[in-house]
Amino acid sequence: MSRPMPATPAQLEREVKRRRTFAIISHPDAGKTTLTEKLLLYGGAIHLAGAVKGKSNQKSTTSDWMEIEKQRGISISSSVLQFEYQGHQINLLDTPGHKDFSEDTYRTLTAADAAVMLIDAAKGVEPQTRKLFEVCRMRGIPIFTFMNKLDRPSRDPLDLIDELEKVLGIRSCPMSWPIGSGDRFRGVYDRQAQQVLYFQTDGVANVLQKDRLQDRRFENLDDPALLASLGGPRNDTHEAEYLLDTLKAELELVEVAGDPFDHERVLKGQLTPVFFGSAMNNFGVQRFLERFIELAPAPAPRESTSGAVDPCSERFSGFVFKIQANMDPAHRDRVAFVRICSGHFERGMKAKHARLKKDFTLSKPLNFFAQERVIVDEAWPGDIVGMLDTTGDLRIGDTLCTGPVLEYQGVPRFSPEHFAMLLIKDPMKRKQLQKGLEQLAEEGVVQIYRQRDLGDKDPFLGAVGALQFEVLQHRLNAEYGVDTKIERLPFVHARWVTGPIQPEVFDRRDDSRCLLDRDNHPVLLFKSDWALRWSEDNHKELQFLKNAPLKRVD
Ligand code: G4P
Repeated sequence: MSRPMPATPAQLEREVKRRRTFAIISHPDAGKTTLTEKLLLYGGAIHLAGAVKGKSNQKSTTSDWMEIEKQRGISISSSVLQFEYQGHQINLLDTPGHKDFSEDTYRTLTAADAAVMLIDAAKGVEPQTRKLFEVCRMRGIPIFTFMNKLDRPSRDPLDLIDELEKVLGIRSCPMSWPIGSGDRFRGVYDRQAQQVLYFQTDGVANVLQKDRLQDRRFENLDDPALLASLGGPRNDTHEAEYLLDTLKAELELVEVAGDPFDHERVLKGQLTPVFFGSAMNNFGVQRFLERFIELAPAPAPRESTSGAVDPCSERFSGFVFKIQANMDPAHRDRVAFVRICSGHFERGMKAKHARLKKDFTLSKPLNFFAQERVIVDEAWPGDIVGMLDTTGDLRIGDTLCTGPVLEYQGVPRFSPEHFAMLLIKDPMKRKQLQKGLEQLAEEGVVQIYRQRDLGDKDPFLGAVGALQFEVLQHRLNAEYGVDTKIERLPFVHARWVTGPIQPEVFDRRDDSRCLLDRDNHPVLLFKSDWALRWSEDNHKELQFLKNAPLKRVD
């Protein structure tokens, strides 16, 4: 096998510039799968009408995707969907199993350069979106909003915009504006192009043919043909006039009261550009993708212990943001997913493992094509590669680099909201349990807290999504042969604590408990909002942190 050629600086710069690495954040059912498919459609799999998912035919979807992969070379990995669009390399990070929301979902966002916030226009901002938004906020990455399902009765668009500010605290700039919704949805007005994209439901709306539904455009709001079209299938002139008047009035309001478009503010995550459409009908998606590519950032310099590292620097660097074990049950292996931050990655290259201060040969970089693994020859900043970690040396947050050692900031652990105690049914299997538990905690399935005087016995577990306990039990059983029992605990908040803590003070109360995390850092659990507030108010000598401190206390 021939090794790839070293990259020239011009080539590196070109590859960095054309990359867009992002994740979609949403609440279950907002349409993430549907939107992802439509985006893939633009990445080349255009002819696969009906390849569309749906829980009812999830199986055939997977196989359709495998077909797409084979035909079009689109990699649909367990971690990143990669496709080309208009000369750009798009890396869509999968925030996996978002129905069983886990810490893994949060961690993935640390590898993204931008986020697309997908909102069901009938529902507005929902809890899971809010939590994921907070992580994006913390990182200061740009957030693009897509209001979905306009073909269904939706909330007033002004209300939706208002909610972004009230609930999320982010200013917004509508890039498009909807004309009606539900039965009366007639399209969107593109404010930048000053153009109406007309939505026609002619019974083929669900057919995956790009452009078809956007063929009719109106450049002028006073075009009589536009008014005629807005009457819909019933040619209702009253309805047409009402929709047009409403559109004009709302556009005026948005113009006067809304924020002007400001690319700098978008890049700082202070202003979210908002688009309206319908993923299922493939309406508004192409415009969105085009604008997104234009406005979203290419990989940018990232902070490290040696200052900001330029992606175009010739030294290679990247960090592990996700670990997955036993992806292939036959091999019982462990794959560490690395986000490349700078330099050209070549198969077989040597890099330093910054935490262990040792050399590491990156000999088996993998990409995952559905069930198959494909060795990657080269990759660029913004890309994700999977490393087969046979020695178990890689942990979440580890940095790999060439040149003088540097470390990226790491991947924080996030505050769980569900708690339980794990009990083992057969004490003889304690060793296997320990091994499995450590591995699954490393993957982010759950967090483990030790009771201070019990060592590893009967640990407490924390999870950001309740389903994770079931996933844990199932995997402990299937992969490590250990039967366990879960007892839910009535805690609702966890806070890492720094400062002179006296654990007994919190253990004596019946609404709080002091435990230790895997790095021996004290963690307080609280049974109510009130208990948390009380402790914060009465223990000013302590800092209560929502995310675990990044520095390990080994
Ligand atoms: P998720 O991944 O965010 O959970 O959402 P998913 O794409 O699975 O979509 C959830 C449901 O919403 C699906 O319906 C999907 O068809 C529907 N949906 C997505 N986008 C739109 C849209 O623009 N308009 C309308 N009207 N519906 C949309 P389902 O009934 O749960 O599944 P299916 O059997 O229709 O596939």
